[in-house]
Amino acid sequence: MKVAILTISDKGSRGERVDKSGEVIREILTAAGSEIIAYEIVPDEKNLIEEKLILFSDKIGAEVVLTTGGTGFSVRDVTPEATLSVIERPTPGFAEAIRHKSLEVTSHAMLSRATSGIRGKTIIINLPGSPKAVKECLEVIMPALSHGVDILYGRTGECANT
Ligand code: MTE
Repeated sequence: MKVAILTISDKGSRGERVDKSGEVIREILTAAGSEIIAYEIVPDEKNLIEEKLILFSDKIGAEVVLTTGGTGFSVRDVTPEATLSVIERPTPGFAEAIRHKSLEVTSHAMLSRATSGIRGKTIIINLPGSPKAVKECLEVIMPALSHGVDILYGRTGECANT
């Protein structure tokens, strides 16, 4: 899969915090055979997040955009709103599965407002901000994600149940 990573963090964007979560996404996706075609850090600003999501989807041709951060309850957390404003078709299954499985790990999973959806030929998925949460959430979605991409790109005629 061609994957773009967008880290949303005020401190990260100012260079005041090392972006471990973006690195975790890169490691896990690369190990799974994906190509990371773009990676950026932006502050928690809705218009800047939207700009990058559109750039990654429409111009760079990412099959999947994984965001990390900005999904919580802080007044600065606007990643879900930016995502909802650029997607054309919601894909609630990713967020449902993530919250369902994550609640087995921590009750704080209900504090993530993460969402996901399809824009053109790109699947955009929000992940929470901590490296631990990123790893846990990717473990949930990875088994189905590449099949979803294959269906979106018409690379498979039938739905494989594994
Ligand atoms: N999901 C998993 N799997 N593991 C976690 O540790 N942390 C939660 C939640 N989702 C967590 C998780 C916490 S503490 C918060 S506040 C929310 O994600 C939102 O995180 P964010 O604002 O960094 O996006």
